[in-house]
Amino acid sequence: MKNTVVTFKQAKENKEKLTMLTAYDYSTAKLMDESGINGILVGDSLGNVILGYEDTLSVTMEDMIHHGAAVARGVKNALVVVDMPFMSYQTSVYDALCNAGRLVKEAKAGAVKLEGGEKVCPQIKAIVDADIPVMAHLGLTPQSVNVFGGYKVQGKSIEAAQKLIDDAKAVEQAGAFALVLECVPSALAKIITESISIPTIGIGAGSCCDGQILVYQDMLGMYSDFTPKFVKKFANAGQVMCSAFLDYIDAVKSGEFPSKEHSFDISDDVLSAIYGGMKK
Ligand code: KIV
Repeated sequence: MKNTVVTFKQAKENKEKLTMLTAYDYSTAKLMDESGINGILVGDSLGNVILGYEDTLSVTMEDMIHHGAAVARGVKNALVVVDMPFMSYQTSVYDALCNAGRLVKEAKAGAVKLEGGEKVCPQIKAIVDADIPVMAHLGLTPQSVNVFGGYKVQGKSIEAAQKLIDDAKAVEQAGAFALVLECVPSALAKIITESISIPTIGIGAGSCCDGQILVYQDMLGMYSDFTPKFVKKFANAGQVMCSAFLDYIDAVKSGEFPSKEHSFDISDDVLSAIYGGMKK
């Protein structure tokens, strides 16, 4: 069944958990879609896990469109949400609207995601007014890493917790259809989830959120640079891949691969004609 913003709304009303994963390419997105995931986020985390940057700040609109379009081509039923990269919406409401429009037109996004609370509500409102659904993102917002001074749990003081609650209400009011809560204490995520009518999608925000999201390389054990506390490895695909790479190298070096089974034949007539030709 096709997932839309309506599916997300109904899931919260019916207390059904929503599932999301990140993806950045056609074949991975297709596998996730076939598994029945509700939503796929083409996250700007692609800066880390695909492009090897230290943070997400260097990711461009072109990167997001390139990977977003690949994911969209692999998906039939999941809602495809594409991240708005750093400086594609902070600069002005006009820039935000134009760039959100590009993600829909060129990457075939079903919705866009941007980071921030009250500060970016004019942008959220303008994008939603143009009939583009917006997913908001609060808590540890990686585009603000230089202000946070690192990747730290957010909302731990009274002021910070209250600000997160206020920001959650503000993005709901501005028209966001869902809210990602990243690295927020579980009890605070529960309060926020119960204070707003739009679904919360948690990552490091405990079990009371309306849904969960993980970066797929993290949950498959494919990214060893850094593993946050909130990541559960559902498989060790990294190990499986390394062992397959080793087997391949051995098989090529020993001449075991490619065997006849993986090679193409040519008729004897053609072969002898060529050999004959070579002798002349
Ligand atoms: O970019 C991303 O992958 C994200 C998720 C971690 C929510 O924003």
